[in-house]
Amino acid sequence: MDFQLTNNPTCGDNVTGHTSCLCTFQKCRGDNLGVLTTTRRDNRSATFKVVAENISKAYDKNSVLRRVNFDVRDGEFFSILGSSGCGKTTLLQILIGLLDADDGKIFKDGRDITTLEPARRGMGIVFQNYALFDNMTVFRNVAYALQFHGVDTAAARQKSARMLDIVGLSEFASKMPAELSGGQQQRVAIARALALEPDVILFDEPLSALDASTRLDIRRELKKIQRTLGTTMIYVTHDQEEAFALSDRVMILNRGVVSQIGTPEEIISSPANDYVQSFVVDNLQFKIDSLRRFLR
Ligand SMILES: Nc1ncnc2c1ncn2[C@@H]1O[C@H](COP(=O)(O)OP(=O)(O)OP(=O)(O)O)[C@@H](O)[C@H]1O
Ligand SMILES: [Mg+2]
Repeated sequence: MDFQLTNNPTCGDNVTGHTSCLCTFQKCRGDNLGVLTTTRRDNRSATFKVVAENISKAYDKNSVLRRVNFDVRDGEFFSILGSSGCGKTTLLQILIGLLDADDGKIFKDGRDITTLEPARRGMGIVFQNYALFDNMTVFRNVAYALQFHGVDTAAARQKSARMLDIVGLSEFASKMPAELSGGQQQRVAIARALALEPDVILFDEPLSALDASTRLDIRRELKKIQRTLGTTMIYVTHDQEEAFALSDRVMILNRGVVSQIGTPEEIISSPANDYVQSFVVDNLQFKIDSLRRFLR
Protein backbone atom coordinates (compact mmCIF):
# COMPACT_ATOMS: atom_id res chain seq x y z
CA MET A 1 0.00 0.00 0.00
CA ASP A 2 1.11 3.57 -0.70
CA PHE A 3 0.04 6.51 1.41
CA GLN A 4 0.03 9.56 -0.74
CA LEU A 5 -0.38 13.27 -0.73
CA THR A 6 -3.72 13.67 -2.40
CA ASN A 7 -5.36 16.38 -4.38
CA ASN A 8 -8.72 16.99 -2.74
CA PRO A 9 -11.14 16.35 -5.60
CA THR A 10 -13.61 18.90 -4.33
CA CYS A 11 -11.42 21.96 -3.97
CA GLY A 12 -8.13 21.03 -5.63
CA ASP A 13 -6.06 21.64 -2.48
CA ASN A 14 -3.36 19.18 -1.56
CA VAL A 15 -4.18 17.35 1.64
CA THR A 16 -2.69 14.35 3.31
CA GLY A 17 -4.05 11.79 5.72
CA HIS A 18 -7.40 12.26 7.49
CA THR A 19 -6.92 15.98 7.80
CA SER A 20 -9.80 18.37 7.38
CA CYS A 21 -9.56 20.45 4.29
CA LEU A 22 -9.14 24.03 5.43
CA CYS A 23 -10.05 25.70 2.20
CA THR A 24 -12.97 28.07 2.11
CA PHE A 25 -14.55 26.50 -0.94
CA GLN A 26 -18.22 26.08 -0.11
CA LYS A 27 -18.52 22.41 -1.05
CA CYS A 28 -15.80 21.40 1.43
CA ARG A 29 -17.12 23.27 4.48
CA GLY A 30 -14.05 22.14 6.37
CA ASP A 31 -15.43 18.61 6.63
CA ASN A 32 -13.17 15.72 7.35
CA LEU A 33 -12.94 14.26 3.91
CA GLY A 34 -11.08 11.13 4.89
CA VAL A 35 -8.87 11.48 1.87
CA LEU A 36 -6.11 9.16 3.00
CA THR A 37 -5.73 6.99 -0.03
CA THR A 38 -4.44 3.50 0.21
CA THR A 39 -3.71 2.51 -3.30
CA ARG A 40 -2.04 -0.46 -4.83
CA ARG A 41 0.25 0.33 -7.71
CA ASP A 42 -1.58 -2.26 -9.80
CA ASN A 43 -4.92 -0.59 -9.02
CA ARG A 44 -4.00 2.58 -10.84
CA SER A 45 -6.92 2.65 -13.24
CA ALA A 46 -9.48 2.50 -10.42
CA THR A 47 -7.89 5.26 -8.37
CA PHE A 48 -7.78 8.01 -10.97
CA LYS A 49 -10.39 9.80 -13.04
CA VAL A 50 -8.55 9.22 -16.30
CA VAL A 51 -5.64 6.89 -16.96
CA ALA A 52 -3.70 6.65 -20.21
CA GLU A 53 -1.68 3.46 -20.37
CA ASN A 54 1.12 2.93 -22.89
CA ILE A 55 -0.52 4.94 -25.67
CA SER A 56 1.32 4.70 -28.97
CA LYS A 57 0.36 6.09 -32.35
CA ALA A 58 2.06 6.35 -35.73
CA TYR A 59 0.93 7.95 -38.98
CA ASP A 60 2.23 5.72 -41.73
CA LYS A 61 5.61 4.87 -40.30
CA ASN A 62 6.10 8.12 -38.41
CA SER A 63 5.80 7.48 -34.71
CA VAL A 64 3.88 10.36 -33.10
CA LEU A 65 3.20 9.04 -29.56
CA ARG A 66 5.45 6.52 -27.84
CA ARG A 67 4.20 4.61 -24.82
CA VAL A 68 2.56 7.63 -23.19
CA ASN A 69 1.47 7.03 -19.58
CA PHE A 70 -0.29 9.45 -17.27
CA ASP A 71 -3.02 9.62 -14.62
CA VAL A 72 -5.40 12.49 -14.00
CA ARG A 73 -7.07 12.90 -10.62
CA ASP A 74 -10.72 13.70 -10.09
CA GLY A 75 -11.23 17.46 -10.21
CA GLU A 76 -7.67 18.11 -11.31
CA PHE A 77 -6.50 20.75 -13.78
CA PHE A 78 -3.94 18.78 -15.77
CA SER A 79 -2.04 20.38 -18.64
CA ILE A 80 -0.21 18.75 -21.52
CA LEU A 81 2.58 21.07 -22.55
CA GLY A 82 4.76 20.64 -25.61
CA SER A 83 6.02 22.35 -28.74
CA SER A 84 4.22 22.28 -32.08
CA GLY A 85 3.97 18.82 -33.63
CA CYS A 86 4.85 16.88 -30.45
CA GLY A 87 1.54 14.97 -30.51
CA LYS A 88 -0.76 16.94 -28.18
CA THR A 89 -3.83 17.04 -30.43
CA THR A 90 -3.31 13.42 -31.44
CA LEU A 91 -3.33 12.46 -27.76
CA LEU A 92 -6.53 14.44 -27.02
CA GLN A 93 -8.26 12.86 -30.00
CA ILE A 94 -7.36 9.43 -28.70
CA LEU A 95 -8.62 10.33 -25.21
CA ILE A 96 -12.01 11.44 -26.50
CA GLY A 97 -12.27 8.61 -29.04
CA LEU A 98 -12.02 10.52 -32.31
CA LEU A 99 -8.88 8.56 -33.15
CA ASP A 100 -7.76 5.02 -32.34
CA ALA A 101 -4.39 4.43 -30.74
CA ASP A 102 -2.21 1.71 -32.27
CA ASP A 103 -1.49 0.43 -28.82
CA GLY A 104 -2.44 1.12 -25.20
CA LYS A 105 -5.59 1.70 -23.17
CA ILE A 106 -7.68 4.55 -21.79
CA PHE A 107 -9.53 4.17 -18.49
CA LYS A 108 -12.12 6.49 -16.97
CA ASP A 109 -13.30 5.91 -13.40
CA GLY A 110 -11.63 2.53 -13.57
CA ARG A 111 -13.50 1.45 -16.66
CA ASP A 112 -11.72 0.57 -19.90
CA ILE A 113 -13.12 3.04 -22.46
CA THR A 114 -10.54 2.40 -25.18
CA THR A 115 -13.10 1.25 -27.71
CA LEU A 116 -16.12 3.21 -26.47
CA GLU A 117 -17.64 5.68 -28.94
CA PRO A 118 -16.94 9.38 -28.13
CA ALA A 119 -20.52 10.28 -27.14
CA ARG A 120 -20.51 7.60 -24.43
CA ARG A 121 -17.24 8.61 -22.76
CA GLY A 122 -18.73 11.46 -20.69
CA MET A 123 -16.10 13.89 -21.93
CA GLY A 124 -16.49 17.31 -23.51
CA ILE A 125 -14.01 19.05 -25.77
CA VAL A 126 -13.26 22.68 -26.59
CA PHE A 127 -11.24 23.39 -29.73
CA GLN A 128 -9.01 26.30 -30.64
CA ASN A 129 -11.34 27.46 -33.46
CA TYR A 130 -14.57 27.50 -31.33
CA ALA A 131 -16.41 25.26 -33.86
CA LEU A 132 -19.75 27.02 -33.32
CA PHE A 133 -22.77 26.65 -35.60
CA ASP A 134 -22.79 29.96 -37.54
CA ASN A 135 -26.51 29.73 -38.36
CA MET A 136 -27.68 29.36 -34.74
CA THR A 137 -27.95 31.93 -31.97
CA VAL A 138 -25.65 31.71 -28.98
CA PHE A 139 -28.48 30.16 -26.98
CA ARG A 140 -29.25 27.54 -29.66
CA ASN A 141 -25.56 26.66 -29.94
CA VAL A 142 -25.60 25.62 -26.29
CA ALA A 143 -29.09 24.07 -26.25
CA TYR A 144 -28.64 22.10 -29.47
CA ALA A 145 -26.25 19.55 -28.02
CA LEU A 146 -28.61 18.93 -25.09
CA GLN A 147 -31.64 18.37 -27.31
CA PHE A 148 -29.53 16.19 -29.60
CA HIS A 149 -28.84 14.03 -26.54
CA GLY A 150 -32.54 13.77 -25.74
CA VAL A 151 -32.85 16.40 -23.01
CA ASP A 152 -36.41 17.83 -23.15
CA THR A 153 -36.89 21.39 -24.33
CA ALA A 154 -37.69 22.97 -20.95
CA ALA A 155 -34.71 21.34 -19.22
CA ALA A 156 -32.43 22.22 -22.15
CA ARG A 157 -33.50 25.85 -21.99
CA GLN A 158 -32.94 26.01 -18.25
CA LYS A 159 -29.53 24.38 -18.43
CA SER A 160 -28.39 26.49 -21.38
CA ALA A 161 -29.37 29.67 -19.56
CA ARG A 162 -27.39 28.54 -16.51
CA MET A 163 -24.27 27.71 -18.53
CA LEU A 164 -24.40 31.04 -20.36
CA ASP A 165 -24.66 32.72 -16.98
CA ILE A 166 -21.62 30.80 -15.71
CA VAL A 167 -19.51 32.06 -18.62
CA GLY A 168 -20.94 35.60 -18.32
CA LEU A 169 -22.84 35.67 -21.61
CA SER A 170 -26.50 35.79 -20.59
CA GLU A 171 -27.08 39.11 -22.33
CA PHE A 172 -25.69 37.73 -25.61
CA ALA A 173 -28.04 34.74 -25.79
CA SER A 174 -29.95 35.96 -28.84
CA LYS A 175 -26.90 37.10 -30.83
CA MET A 176 -25.36 35.15 -33.70
CA PRO A 177 -21.74 33.94 -33.37
CA ALA A 178 -20.57 36.42 -36.04
CA GLU A 179 -21.73 39.25 -33.79
CA LEU A 180 -19.38 38.17 -30.98
CA SER A 181 -15.68 38.75 -30.34
CA GLY A 182 -13.29 35.78 -30.43
CA GLY A 183 -13.21 35.63 -26.63
CA GLN A 184 -17.00 35.62 -26.43
CA GLN A 185 -17.23 32.89 -29.06
CA GLN A 186 -14.80 30.78 -27.08
CA ARG A 187 -16.96 31.32 -23.98
CA VAL A 188 -19.94 29.98 -25.93
CA ALA A 189 -17.89 26.91 -26.86
CA ILE A 190 -17.02 26.44 -23.17
CA ALA A 191 -20.71 26.82 -22.15
CA ARG A 192 -21.65 24.25 -24.79
CA ALA A 193 -19.04 21.80 -23.50
CA LEU A 194 -20.25 22.34 -19.92
CA ALA A 195 -23.94 21.96 -20.78
CA LEU A 196 -23.83 18.19 -21.04
CA GLU A 197 -22.21 18.11 -17.61
CA PRO A 198 -19.26 15.97 -18.58
CA ASP A 199 -17.04 15.17 -15.64
CA VAL A 200 -13.97 15.60 -17.86
CA ILE A 201 -13.40 18.42 -20.35
CA LEU A 202 -10.53 18.42 -22.83
CA PHE A 203 -9.21 21.71 -24.19
CA ASP A 204 -7.06 21.91 -27.32
CA GLU A 205 -5.22 25.25 -27.17
CA PRO A 206 -8.51 27.08 -26.59
CA LEU A 207 -6.99 30.51 -26.03
CA SER A 208 -4.30 30.64 -28.67
CA ALA A 209 -6.36 32.73 -31.11
CA LEU A 210 -7.15 35.38 -28.50
CA ASP A 211 -5.41 38.56 -27.40
CA ALA A 212 -3.40 38.61 -24.18
CA SER A 213 -5.96 40.33 -21.99
CA THR A 214 -8.87 38.12 -23.15
CA ARG A 215 -6.69 35.07 -22.52
CA LEU A 216 -6.17 36.20 -18.94
CA ASP A 217 -9.90 36.79 -18.42
CA ILE A 218 -10.87 33.36 -19.75
CA ARG A 219 -8.07 31.66 -17.82
CA ARG A 220 -9.51 33.06 -14.59
CA GLU A 221 -13.00 31.93 -15.57
CA LEU A 222 -11.83 28.41 -16.41
CA LYS A 223 -10.17 28.11 -13.04
CA LYS A 224 -13.33 29.37 -11.34
CA ILE A 225 -15.50 26.92 -13.28
CA GLN A 226 -13.18 24.05 -12.39
CA ARG A 227 -13.45 24.90 -8.71
CA THR A 228 -17.19 25.57 -8.78
CA LEU A 229 -18.28 22.52 -10.77
CA GLY A 230 -15.43 20.17 -9.81
CA THR A 231 -14.88 19.29 -13.47
CA THR A 232 -11.65 17.48 -14.33
CA MET A 233 -9.85 19.50 -16.98
CA ILE A 234 -7.18 18.25 -19.39
CA TYR A 235 -5.69 21.24 -21.14
CA VAL A 236 -3.34 21.21 -24.11
CA THR A 237 -1.07 24.19 -24.68
CA HIS A 238 2.35 25.12 -26.00
CA ASP A 239 2.46 28.12 -23.67
CA GLN A 240 4.56 27.43 -20.58
CA GLU A 241 3.20 30.36 -18.63
CA GLU A 242 -0.40 29.36 -19.29
CA ALA A 243 0.20 25.76 -18.25
CA PHE A 244 1.96 26.79 -15.07
CA ALA A 245 -0.59 29.44 -14.11
CA LEU A 246 -3.59 27.14 -14.51
CA SER A 247 -2.52 23.66 -13.58
CA ASP A 248 -2.34 21.43 -10.56
CA ARG A 249 0.08 19.29 -12.55
CA VAL A 250 1.73 19.57 -15.94
CA MET A 251 2.87 16.81 -18.30
CA ILE A 252 5.67 17.79 -20.66
CA LEU A 253 5.62 16.00 -23.97
CA ASN A 254 8.66 16.00 -26.25
CA ARG A 255 8.28 14.39 -29.68
CA GLY A 256 5.63 12.02 -28.46
CA VAL A 257 7.50 10.96 -25.32
CA VAL A 258 6.62 12.06 -21.78
CA SER A 259 9.55 14.07 -20.41
CA GLN A 260 8.14 14.84 -16.98
CA ILE A 261 4.91 15.00 -14.99
CA GLY A 262 4.72 17.13 -11.86
CA THR A 263 3.38 20.18 -10.14
CA PRO A 264 4.72 23.49 -11.49
CA GLU A 265 6.90 23.75 -8.37
CA GLU A 266 8.36 20.27 -8.87
CA ILE A 267 9.16 20.93 -12.51
CA ILE A 268 10.80 24.28 -11.83
CA SER A 269 12.84 23.00 -8.91
CA SER A 270 13.81 19.62 -10.44
CA PRO A 271 13.61 19.57 -14.24
CA ALA A 272 13.91 15.94 -15.32
CA ASN A 273 16.18 16.48 -18.32
CA ASP A 274 17.77 19.05 -20.63
CA TYR A 275 14.60 19.42 -22.68
CA VAL A 276 12.51 20.39 -19.65
CA GLN A 277 15.26 22.71 -18.50
CA SER A 278 15.43 24.57 -21.81
CA PHE A 279 11.81 24.36 -23.06
CA VAL A 280 10.20 25.16 -19.72
CA VAL A 281 12.52 26.50 -17.06
CA ASP A 282 14.82 28.65 -19.25
CA ASN A 283 11.87 29.99 -21.24
CA LEU A 284 9.99 30.99 -18.12
CA GLN A 285 13.13 32.53 -16.67
CA PHE A 286 13.58 34.52 -19.88
CA LYS A 287 10.03 35.86 -19.63
CA ILE A 288 10.51 36.79 -15.98
CA ASP A 289 13.82 38.55 -16.73
CA SER A 290 12.25 40.47 -19.59
CA LEU A 291 9.41 41.63 -17.37
CA ARG A 292 11.82 42.65 -14.63
CA ARG A 293 13.81 44.77 -17.09
CA PHE A 294 10.59 46.36 -18.30
CA LEU A 295 9.33 47.09 -14.79
CA ARG A 296 12.58 48.64 -13.61
N1 LIG B 1 -3.84 12.83 -40.05
C1 LIG B 1 -2.50 12.88 -40.03
N2 LIG B 1 -1.77 12.23 -40.94
C2 LIG B 1 -0.41 12.22 -40.91
N3 LIG B 1 0.30 12.89 -39.98
C3 LIG B 1 -0.37 13.57 -39.05
C4 LIG B 1 -1.80 13.60 -39.02
N4 LIG B 1 -2.19 14.36 -37.95
C5 LIG B 1 -1.06 14.77 -37.36
N5 LIG B 1 0.03 14.30 -38.00
C6 LIG B 1 1.43 14.54 -37.61
O1 LIG B 1 1.59 14.07 -36.29
C7 LIG B 1 2.43 14.94 -35.53
C8 LIG B 1 1.70 15.38 -34.29
O2 LIG B 1 0.59 16.18 -34.68
P1 LIG B 1 -0.35 16.88 -33.60
O3 LIG B 1 -1.41 17.61 -34.35
O4 LIG B 1 -0.78 15.87 -32.62
O5 LIG B 1 0.68 17.89 -32.93
P2 LIG B 1 0.42 19.04 -31.86
O6 LIG B 1 1.36 18.81 -30.73
O7 LIG B 1 -1.02 19.16 -31.56
O8 LIG B 1 0.92 20.34 -32.66
P3 LIG B 1 0.38 21.86 -32.62
O9 LIG B 1 0.89 22.46 -31.33
O10 LIG B 1 1.02 22.49 -33.82
O11 LIG B 1 -1.12 21.83 -32.70
C9 LIG B 1 2.82 16.07 -36.47
O12 LIG B 1 4.10 15.79 -36.99
C10 LIG B 1 1.78 16.01 -37.55
O13 LIG B 1 2.30 16.45 -38.78
MG1 LIG C 1 -2.47 20.61 -31.90
